[in-house]
Amino acid sequence: MASKVFLIAILVTTIAAPSLATDYMVGDDAGWKVGVNYTAWAAGKEFYIGDTLMFMYQKGSENVLKVNATEFQQCLASNTSGALTSGNDIVTLAKPGKRWYISGVDDHCSKGVKLVVTVSEAPAPTPVPTLTPGSSGASELSPLKSCAWILAALAVFKMILA
Ligand SMILES: *[C@@H]1O[C@H](CO)[C@@H](O)[C@H](O)[C@H]1NC(C)=O
Ligand SMILES: *[C@@H]1O[C@H](CO)[C@@H](O)[C@H](O)[C@H]1NC(C)=O
Ligand SMILES: *[C@@H]1O[C@H](CO)[C@@H](O)[C@H](O)[C@H]1NC(C)=O
Repeated sequence: MASKVFLIAILVTTIAAPSLATDYMVGDDAGWKVGVNYTAWAAGKEFYIGDTLMFMYQKGSENVLKVNATEFQQCLASNTSGALTSGNDIVTLAKPGKRWYISGVDDHCSKGVKLVVTVSEAPAPTPVPTLTPGSSGASELSPLKSCAWILAALAVFKMILA
């Protein structure tokens, strides 16, 4: 029984995979530190509800404060009670709208350790397999394929449960 449950879990995960949220490493490999332009990093990225931001830094060298627009512009780190300090801080973008984050360490915020993102309501777009241009009925092919895929998965479910 346990192995059946496990198999089902794998199937469900596989089916759900295309709509999984994106985990963003803020600053990519550079992480969260002085010398990275987070405006440039965020440019062109689209953030959706359920996505996560990971702030990576050497513990103690930075922190992460969630602030409002004014505090962001002026680098006001007045309220540090909610600061994230682990060095491996993960924030889930739960609501639509703008989110502002700054480092409250020394003058790092005014040196550019600050990030603003705009979170959108729409779910992350599902990647669609590229089709050869010119093939007839290309636009209908993709939903048909996914439908067949789900039916196949359901057949496997039945086999497992039989
Ligand atoms: C950071 O990048 C943005 C967008 O590319 C640019 O407008 C801005 O001047 C950059 N800031 C610094 C301090 O280089
Ligand atoms: C931002 O937060 C500060 C301190 O908590 C508060 O005084 C200020 O009114 C807030 N500003 C905005 C635009 O929400
Ligand atoms: C400080 O931040 C914490 C956590 O974000 C919040 O719960 C608290 O209300 C804030 N205090 C003030 C005075 O703004």
